[in-house]
Amino acid sequence: MSQNNFSDVTSTVVNWMADYQARIRSFPVLSKVRPGEILEKLPTSPNLSPDCFDDMFSDFKDLILPGITHWQHPNFFAYFPANSSPPSIIAEMLIDTLGVQGMSWATSPAATELEIRMMKWLQEMFGLSPEFSGVIQDSASNSTMSAMIVAREKATDFSTNETGVTEQKLVAYCSSEAHSSVEKAAKMIGIGRQNLRKIAVNANQEMRVDLLIQAIEDDLKNGKRPFFMVGAFGTTGSTAVDDLKSISNVAKKYGIWFHVDAAYAGSALVLPEVRMLADGINQADSVVINPHKWLLTTFDCSAFFIKDRTALLKSFSILPEYLKTPEAESVTNFRDWGPGLGRRFRSLKLWFVIRWYGVTGIQNIIRNHISLSAELESWIRNDPRFEVMTKRQFNLVCFRLKSGDGASQKLLSILNQSGDMFLSHTRINGSFVLRLVIGQTDVTAEDVRQAWDKIKQAASLACDVKSLAAD
Ligand SMILES: Cc1ncc(COP(=O)(O)O)c(C=O)c1O
Repeated sequence: MSQNNFSDVTSTVVNWMADYQARIRSFPVLSKVRPGEILEKLPTSPNLSPDCFDDMFSDFKDLILPGITHWQHPNFFAYFPANSSPPSIIAEMLIDTLGVQGMSWATSPAATELEIRMMKWLQEMFGLSPEFSGVIQDSASNSTMSAMIVAREKATDFSTNETGVTEQKLVAYCSSEAHSSVEKAAKMIGIGRQNLRKIAVNANQEMRVDLLIQAIEDDLKNGKRPFFMVGAFGTTGSTAVDDLKSISNVAKKYGIWFHVDAAYAGSALVLPEVRMLADGINQADSVVINPHKWLLTTFDCSAFFIKDRTALLKSFSILPEYLKTPEAESVTNFRDWGPGLGRRFRSLKLWFVIRWYGVTGIQNIIRNHISLSAELESWIRNDPRFEVMTKRQFNLVCFRLKSGDGASQKLLSILNQSGDMFLSHTRINGSFVLRLVIGQTDVTAEDVRQAWDKIKQAASLACDVKSLAAD
């Protein structure tokens, strides 16, 4: 039998966690291991007898930690914010301790009822219409897929769930900058990626509404049935915001389901000054916002809001004998609100995060991220070697070296290899662009100033390299 004692080892682990947070700046942000290096060090077969926790924990530190990219490092500037926080970590520990499987109200009434309340709190915090009902999903990808499924069912009079896809006429629309999860959903739910129209964007990376209307008209002429469209509130590439108001009017005119993907930037709606950018969001049929991106909540926790709850339930409900409970008529059973049956107790994280910081505390953190980004943007604009490539609206600055793609790629590689910071990239209007996101919970003005100093130094090196490929 194992000699490991839960209460002894948890205190060791909790102390390590606090220490990790305190010295997180000492780790290289991006893991430096080579492909296969960790795998080689792991035993090929499992141990037959119990292992001792001290050895397990040493291996965690020696084998695993070097292969970690430190997402919570203040200089993690890549992709999108995925910030965690002490209350969220504490809630995760409690969630795991309770081990709740919240598929039905009866399987843990508190999990269901806290989720109902938290989604109402978020709705109020984001300024979303009370017409929406909310449910927590694991990912924006599954939230968007759920929306597409409900839209498909409404468009086919709920027949696809019964008979499957027979004659495929349905077409969906998003911009060419929309997240890949929209295309993935179209593939998975039987629409087919060829029936997803990717509408071109303008110079600000926003969907061209004139081209959207033209595409719908063309499809109607060709006997197609437009059924679903996605507007972005913050694209992944450059946090562009589509004209949600105009898109919602198009959706209304043609009777098309309108889904807003606010997975990344939606958390900024806690700031009243940001809400005007989202004009039209309350005309949407569904909205997804990821607290696991920018609301201090550890992955996973995706907030999915939908107006037509009846259609949602009709699309997903299924009731085998073994799931029947006596009180079913009078309670919410969240298993009927999405693809999965089993559900984690994610609402506890939201409850702890919101109570710990208060709405004002969360607003201050997000506002600080945005103002740090604005400051960085102004420094970049004032350095003649650089150019800012898109309108910055939130906490992402997209920039490049004017000397071209080769130098910009070199700059990114020098910065990421240094271990001091991690940035990602995209292409905007064909140009290679560095993306710098300021969104980690404890990032400070000093972190950003130091990062900018290092970027300037690295830029000198990148521009000096003689062997740069011609652009
Ligand atoms: C705009 C947008 N939508 C959707 C997603 C997908 O999020 P998830 O990982 O929760 O599926 C992302 C992730 O980067 C995103 O930025």
